[in-house]
Amino acid sequence: MDVYSLMMKRRSIRDFKDQEIPESIVEQFVAVAGAAPSGGNIQPLSVILVRDAEGRERLAELSGGQPWVRKAPLSMIFCLDFFRIKKWAELCQTEFQGEKALNHFLIAYADLMAAAQNVVILAESLGLGSVYIGSVQNEIDEMRKYYEIPEYVLPLMVLSLGYPKSAPQGIPKLKKEVILHQEKYRKPDDGEIRKAFDDKYGVIEENVEKYLEKAYVEAVEAEKLDSPKYIERVKKEMKRLDIRNNAQFLFKVRYPTKVMVRLNGRILQSFRHAGFETFSVKD
Ligand SMILES: Cc1cc2nc3c(=O)[nH]c(=O)nc-3n(C[C@H](O)[C@H](O)[C@H](O)COP(=O)(O)O)c2cc1C
Repeated sequence: MDVYSLMMKRRSIRDFKDQEIPESIVEQFVAVAGAAPSGGNIQPLSVILVRDAEGRERLAELSGGQPWVRKAPLSMIFCLDFFRIKKWAELCQTEFQGEKALNHFLIAYADLMAAAQNVVILAESLGLGSVYIGSVQNEIDEMRKYYEIPEYVLPLMVLSLGYPKSAPQGIPKLKKEVILHQEKYRKPDDGEIRKAFDDKYGVIEENVEKYLEKAYVEAVEAEKLDSPKYIERVKKEMKRLDIRNNAQFLFKVRYPTKVMVRLNGRILQSFRHAGFETFSVKD
């Protein structure tokens, strides 16, 4: 399959077969992560491979109980690693203060995602599937404790991988015209914005299960794997909050705005525990 078709057909996979990934493929995953572009080619990246039962179980817990993390035969923890670089600079009689520099942080996080996406595409081309697990960023302290991650290293993204048993269909995306701007940014008006998202999700249907397949595929997958009644709980919450449209569903049920903002404190505290002062301003 050509690369365009491969990328267009890729879906996040959460239903994995009970099948190991050959060592030669795992080695290729690590190789393509290491071959990814990197700002200044500094490569502030470390990857922890999690394959044993205990490590998988802990990772599933720390991802907020996502069952596919436990089932995936391999999860790769992508760490933003300034420990190695700071030490190297020190050994070379100079100084690296990436942990204090927003510039270094942003570039390093982009590096990390470029590396992870290389793995996603290679996996897809080899008949494997993957899913990002971003929720681990809410548990940086516990992640660092369990996986013995030192100071100046932040585990910020996980990619769970395995052979797909099934793949979700019809995940909605914005039309390409919506994300496209020619030469300069063209500010969309209210009607265009409303239409862009209505086109993407459709209206909230009477048949909530069908709606959730499009708008909250994780709930459908969780129900299938090991959380019966998950959808029932989502439906109840939708009723309780009187959800009338897609935006309300996203920002009241899935990512309640107050909770998301409140998480700042927790995440920034974890950053500080790891020696990062990225978001403070000094004259
Ligand atoms: C940064 C990032 C974090 C994500 N975190 C999670 C996660 O914690 N759990 C999960 O099941 N999927 C996660 N996903 C997958 C998205 O839910 C998925 O990409 C989205 O629903 C679109 O579906 P698709 O990947 O099949 O196109 C994440 C994706 C990205 C890019």
